[in-house]
Amino acid sequence: MSLQRPTKNSNKDHLYMKMKLLQNRPSRTNFADKTLLSSKNLRYLLLLWLSLSLYLLFTSLFSPSNPLLKPTLHSSATASRALIEATTAFASPPLRIYVYDLPPTFNSDWLSNPRCATHLFGSEVAIHRALLRSPVRTTDPSLADYFFVPVYVACNFSTSNGFPSLGHAKRSLSSAVHRISSEMPFWNRSRGSDHVFVASHDYGACFHAMEDVAVAEGVPEFLRRSVMLQTFGVNRRHPCQDVEHVLIPPYVVPETVQPSSEFSPARRRDIFAFFRGKMEVHPKNISGRVYSRGVRTEILKRYGNDRRFRLKRQRYDGYQSEIERSTFCLCPLGWAPWSPRLVESVALGCVPVIIADDIRLPFPETVRWPEISLSLRESEVRSLARVLERVAATNLSAIQRNLWNPAVRRALLFNDDVQYGDATWHVMEALHRKLRRRRSMTDTWR
Ligand SMILES: *[C@@H]1O[C@H](CO)[C@@H](O)[C@H](O)[C@H]1NC(C)=O
Ligand SMILES: *[C@@H]1O[C@H](CO)[C@@H](O)[C@H](O)[C@H]1NC(C)=O
Ligand SMILES: *[C@@H]1O[C@H](CO)[C@@H](O)[C@H](O)[C@H]1NC(C)=O
Ligand SMILES: *[C@@H]1O[C@H](CO)[C@@H](O)[C@H](O)[C@H]1NC(C)=O
Repeated sequence: MSLQRPTKNSNKDHLYMKMKLLQNRPSRTNFADKTLLSSKNLRYLLLLWLSLSLYLLFTSLFSPSNPLLKPTLHSSATASRALIEATTAFASPPLRIYVYDLPPTFNSDWLSNPRCATHLFGSEVAIHRALLRSPVRTTDPSLADYFFVPVYVACNFSTSNGFPSLGHAKRSLSSAVHRISSEMPFWNRSRGSDHVFVASHDYGACFHAMEDVAVAEGVPEFLRRSVMLQTFGVNRRHPCQDVEHVLIPPYVVPETVQPSSEFSPARRRDIFAFFRGKMEVHPKNISGRVYSRGVRTEILKRYGNDRRFRLKRQRYDGYQSEIERSTFCLCPLGWAPWSPRLVESVALGCVPVIIADDIRLPFPETVRWPEISLSLRESEVRSLARVLERVAATNLSAIQRNLWNPAVRRALLFNDDVQYGDATWHVMEALHRKLRRRRSMTDTWR
């Protein structure tokens, strides 16, 4: 569906393809082609200039003063290769994203509650901020490859339980779409297929926190052709990811997970296995829905009295220091398979133990999850202690070494200004890949 892009705006497509055509058929140099070429020369120069600016920008981001890139074991070789990848990644063809300027009721008004930008669904704010200031942003919508629609849907916190209330999400999104489609031509032109939204809550493009309701309602009709940036992902067909999408990590405030100075792979970790979070002793079965499918209850039951396990049910603001002290950090499913613990564990060097069947994890091309984490089936919780002991006795230090790779930690964090290799960078990279695929397909169709 995303292929049905109108050709009206794709001058650059033509240029790109013309150049290929000319390369393929150098003998065909009639008058028309010559004039075409000379008028395109200018644009070609512009393209070169754009690539060069991008290159310079990333070079400056990559200067040794950048704290994110400082303590790396395998720095310079990977760094220079990555730099080349970074610059070529967005330069050819250049990626351009237009960010709609919606009234503040759709977004910035919510920031009056500071939690809006810092809670686990906060990537809807972080990606918006990063795009506004990124080099791929274009203020000319007629040049754009993608249109970002900044609606914060997860910041309406319920006064009774403090959880984000998604009740108004669809209404708010639909009103934003109505607005942009009546005021500007771009939505109608592609039926929304080059428009990008963030859906950072439990079930992503389905706007409901309970799986059965989310599944029953599915992706709202008006968003079915768009690109969703979503935290929810499983390795099987699921109605809530049945849409063009990019899997993104949960949001964690980068400053809160900067490892302390004595942090190192060899750091002594005095907690063997750690989990802090909701664990019900007797989970209620509400019409077939049991929290965490009973996995957290099982963990508590089996290991609650095991002294190697630090399992806590109370909230504690200093829990990230506990993660930093732990060897293994349990990341069992909650309502949804994913959890911000995944990001926190990786950022603080605690080996994530993922217990969520079929979970799909973000940016596997950079984060080689099987090498930095352990995965157990939900039914294998019974043998959890045995698995951890075996790993501790065999390949633990290898896993910790892999985990220590700064590129891995960087990929999972969103920064206000996009940084080379961070989460927003990976989102752009994924969008760029879709763009290239789309173009190569239109190419062969002509
Ligand atoms: C916030 O959520 C509540 C409950 O779903 C809803 O009644 C209210 O209209 C929402 N607020 C806004 C501004 O959308
Ligand atoms: C887009 O389509 C809708 C529905 O057909 C229409 O109401 C609206 O005016 C169109 N927008 C523009 C800018 O033409
Ligand atoms: C929850 O209840 C449903 C029936 O409503 C039942 O099929 C299911 O096995 C129950 N699950 C648990 C874990 O008790
Ligand atoms: C470590 O060993 C466990 C089995 O004990 C295995 O499942 C896992 O894939 C190994 N991980 C690495 C990175 O070698």
